[in-house]
Amino acid sequence: MRIIMLGAPGAGKGTQAKLISERYGIPHISTGDIFRSNIKNGTELGKKAKTYMDQGQLVPDELTCDLVVDRIAQDDAKDGYVLDGFPRTIPQAEALKHALEGRGESVDFAIDVDVPDENIIKRMSGRRACVSCGATYHVVYNPPKKEGVCDVCGSGLILRDDDKPETVKKRLDVYHSQTQPLIDYYQKDGVLKEVDGTQEIDTIFSQIQKLLG
Ligand code: AP5
Ligand code: MG
Repeated sequence: MRIIMLGAPGAGKGTQAKLISERYGIPHISTGDIFRSNIKNGTELGKKAKTYMDQGQLVPDELTCDLVVDRIAQDDAKDGYVLDGFPRTIPQAEALKHALEGRGESVDFAIDVDVPDENIIKRMSGRRACVSCGATYHVVYNPPKKEGVCDVCGSGLILRDDDKPETVKKRLDVYHSQTQPLIDYYQKDGVLKEVDGTQEIDTIFSQIQKLLG
């Protein structure tokens, strides 16, 4: 099953992608997590990506597309994957389509997690993230068992550098201008599914499971 998660920053793409990955036994591939892990490890890619991410801008397609195309060609992705945060531009969607067509494959589901902008800023300030394994928590809505420690891998949790309110506003603008058009794109391809992302995490996940059949 090849799944794409669509939705604004903070809509809950990562939260739901992780649940889907566990339930269906397919890898969760998040470009944001890949960039953050490169930043943490001080790689050249990480240094380049950081300048864009800290300003709420998108990392250029040239740095992003090949990375994902290589990742989905790995062995653990042969039965599918859940892509979180990619594609985010029409050229990225075209690059993905092209790579998949070359293998006689296509996207099965594009799940749009819909949350109005007003709800987003509130969520972001309470978010805590694990840079080691990509798990995401919220101090109120989804707290870890032990404060500041990842339930999954035991690493320390951080506040993301791009979760400051001004940067979140910029990310929302970028989302509306560059990423939202993908909703129409996947609607035309007949694979779009929508869920109301303002509901409880478990309710949204139940609806997603029904959509995936
Ligand atoms: P990325 O890491 O993908 O960030 P994003 O799209 O801005 O989305 P977030 O990760 O912030 O939110 P999410 O939807 O995953 O929500 P989450 O589940 O954490 O990208 C970061 C940056 O990297 C980009 O700005 C860009 O610079 C760069 N980048 C990445 N991919 C790129 C690409 N393809 N091309 C170019 N640049 C790229 O949930 C948010 C919070 O809400 C959490 O605290 C969570 O616990 C809580 N929550 C979740 N669901 C609920 C719920 N139902 N009710 C209440 N709280 C909830
Ligand atoms: Mg995320």
